[in-house]
Amino acid sequence: MRLAIGSDHGGYNLKETLKPYLKELGHEVIDVGTYSSERTDYPLYAVKALRLLLSGEVDRAILICGTGQGMTMVANKFRGVRASLCWDVTTARLAREHNNANVLTLGGRLIGPELAKEIAKTWLETEFQGERHKRRIDSFSDLGATEDQIEEVEKRLTT
Ligand code: RB5
Repeated sequence: MRLAIGSDHGGYNLKETLKPYLKELGHEVIDVGTYSSERTDYPLYAVKALRLLLSGEVDRAILICGTGQGMTMVANKFRGVRASLCWDVTTARLAREHNNANVLTLGGRLIGPELAKEIAKTWLETEFQGERHKRRIDSFSDLGATEDQIEEVEKRLTT
């Protein structure tokens, strides 16, 4: 799978741990930053990864901040994004089976590296079950901000 991965400073260490692991699993990984543990703003990295996702350059995205909450909030503002904040393997499995989540969000300060690897592997390898779940996600997946509004988020944080 082609993956985008992004984090702020709170998720930086976990991003660096997950990157080689995801490559070992056979995925192509595009790291959109941040590239150090210097303090920064999580929405910037959320939207960088979402741009790749929404344009079809990657199949899924993984976003990490301190708690995973901020990344989840930004991601779910955008049309076509179904971001799932996962803290255990069962949540990761169900986020795929029932919700067809296309973004995995993680709390880099709240879960350890081995658990995070298991969560990511499960989330990447579990198929959506479709059927009754499809009707439910189809009822809201076309709502929300469009790709061009990504620029608005970037402008607010960089000017
Ligand atoms: C940064 O201190 C922290 O607020 C951020 O990483 C994240 O947890 C926000 O939801």
